[in-house]
Amino acid sequence: MAGYEGIIDREHLDDIEAIVRIRNDDPDALDHTTPNNADTTFTWDYERSRPALGKLYERAKTAQWNAETDLDWSIDVDVEKVIAEDITANVRIDPQRDLSGTCFASWGDKEWTTFGIEARRWTLSQFMHGEQGALVCTAKIVETVPWIDAKYYASTQVMDEARHVEVFAKYLRTKMGGEYPVNAHLRMLLDDIVADSRWDMTYLGMQIMVEGLALAAFGFMHQFTQEPLLKKLLRYVMSDEARHVAFGVLSLQEIYKEMTLAEIRERQEFAFEAAVRMRDRFLQQEVWERMGIPPKEAIELILVDDGRREFQKMLFSKIVPNCKKLGLLDAGDAWLRRRFEEMGVIHFEDWVDTGAEYELLDEVTADRTAAEAAVA
Ligand SMILES: [Fe+2]
Ligand SMILES: [Fe+2]
Repeated sequence: MAGYEGIIDREHLDDIEAIVRIRNDDPDALDHTTPNNADTTFTWDYERSRPALGKLYERAKTAQWNAETDLDWSIDVDVEKVIAEDITANVRIDPQRDLSGTCFASWGDKEWTTFGIEARRWTLSQFMHGEQGALVCTAKIVETVPWIDAKYYASTQVMDEARHVEVFAKYLRTKMGGEYPVNAHLRMLLDDIVADSRWDMTYLGMQIMVEGLALAAFGFMHQFTQEPLLKKLLRYVMSDEARHVAFGVLSLQEIYKEMTLAEIRERQEFAFEAAVRMRDRFLQQEVWERMGIPPKEAIELILVDDGRREFQKMLFSKIVPNCKKLGLLDAGDAWLRRRFEEMGVIHFEDWVDTGAEYELLDEVTADRTAAEAAVA
């Protein structure tokens, strides 16, 4: 018994056949409607009783930026050159490895560069779709959370997320030649988060899991890309995201203290399900299809590639410490700890959590302070 029957739709985490079976069978659809089961809660208690959320709200008000004027959209992006310079372990299978007899046997630099461009477009597209998920989920939190300080803060996040969708959409359309449809695993995860009636589950699914992963993935791309527009765009998006994850940690810490072990177990299972869906989506099956490579064969080769494995794991470098800080790792019989052990990501547990990191990552304020100092 693996211990997660009924939570994810397969018996073994690495059942690739089951992973690639889930696909977006309506890639041309321009909208998607999903049930939202939550009640709206008004509060008549306007007392500002949560100073940590109040502080975050003040920071959010002053750190707003304008996607049109704070980024230099006149920068010309030579995609082929950018990808050739950016090729890192997350794109290319280790060149030292013998790939003869595999679907990659005939691939040389040209194919890997084409793949790199498609993979970059695909990744930024899924970032964009995930950002829309955050926009919708945070608007939902404004309606469902019973605390006035949280409603205030969440309203600033709605604006942040609109800006994030805006920048990724504009970058994809004006610099990368267009976007990919939403990945089926990501869409299922967003549907699951929106469908849940409990307000704290929106936070766990979005602020802790999706945004925690986004923060790590943006950080990785930011570190490796030399493209100045994308680099600055990611720096600014990350400084917002760090606040969003902190919002999740601060809010859930308070409510989890009141919960029974049975209620916490449901949160542990939800976190695990979300983690698996996010891991599955990063296998980028649509890109392999577009390149004419059978996704199952490609993914089997990718999953044993050391560089790719490390990249997959690194995506959890924010999620695991945040789950630990929330007490989800070890509550009850430490069910979630064992799942993260199986996924090979438990070693991140003592990395810095995001409850306090947002002040360090506020690049928007840092740039403004530097600009003011230069004038003075
Ligand atoms: Fe965002
Ligand atoms: Fe966010």
